[in-house]
Amino acid sequence: MTITIKTAADIEGMRIAGRLASEVLDHLTPHIVPGITTDAIDKLAHDYMVNVQQCIPAPLNYAPPGYAPFPKSICTSINQQICHGIPSDRQLKNGDIVNVDITTIKDGWHGDTSRMFVVGEGSIAAKRLCQMTYEAMWRGIVKVKPGARLGDIGHAIQTFAENNGFSVVREFCGHGIGRKFHEEPQVLHYGRPGTLEALVPGMVFTIEPMVNAGRREIREAGDGWTIVTRDRSLSAQWEHTVLVTETGYEVLTLSAGSPEVPQFVRETATV
Ligand code: MF3
Ligand code: CO
Ligand code: CO
Repeated sequence: MTITIKTAADIEGMRIAGRLASEVLDHLTPHIVPGITTDAIDKLAHDYMVNVQQCIPAPLNYAPPGYAPFPKSICTSINQQICHGIPSDRQLKNGDIVNVDITTIKDGWHGDTSRMFVVGEGSIAAKRLCQMTYEAMWRGIVKVKPGARLGDIGHAIQTFAENNGFSVVREFCGHGIGRKFHEEPQVLHYGRPGTLEALVPGMVFTIEPMVNAGRREIREAGDGWTIVTRDRSLSAQWEHTVLVTETGYEVLTLSAGSPEVPQFVRETATV
């Protein structure tokens, strides 16, 4: 395992990249309405990143081993799509839920964050899945502090999701992040407390649980990227990039438009 430990200067760079990624989501929010295509959302995001923020959209042409280059600048995953949805001419319609995942590169540093959007008026079930997945992410984030272990994060997320009747995707996980998009360690969203790597100040990784309304099994949709639920149930995901500080955590992907943090976080805050 070679987990990079970020210096104070590195962290300064990552704070900027992280805030920019979140600000892309702020910029997109008013546009995510019935009738817009995911290609149009991709173009809005691409142009904002390149022309306004002067940063690089990390997904564009990203090609991990075994994958064809990702063809767009963001990921948009609708309804039963779990992650890595490719923007297209598909129009969002009333009641859809969509994850928009943004990764910026600024001065060589990556910031990675995603949010769920309910298009128009969503069903109670869809809204509950999105809300509970948001809380599941935060249940993991609040575990972050020196000496805690990666298994503590996964356990907190899994327990919360499963106690609410949902399932957690196993095949994709959070990841270290820095000069590279995906670094060590892997951050599983399930697991046992007290297991796996101990956290150290200066580590930076994402927490990005994918939570299904039905069973946890996945399928690749056939385009080489998009992952869907095998049982076609709805899936939600939220993502933040998180720094381990001397006393706890700092979320690097916050901005003016970030959704309010859950009540229990304000009660247990260690930032
Ligand atoms: N942003 C995704 C993550 O959270 C990765 C997307 S890879 C892409 O790790 F190529 F699909 F963009
Ligand atoms: Co990520
Ligand atoms: Co992401």
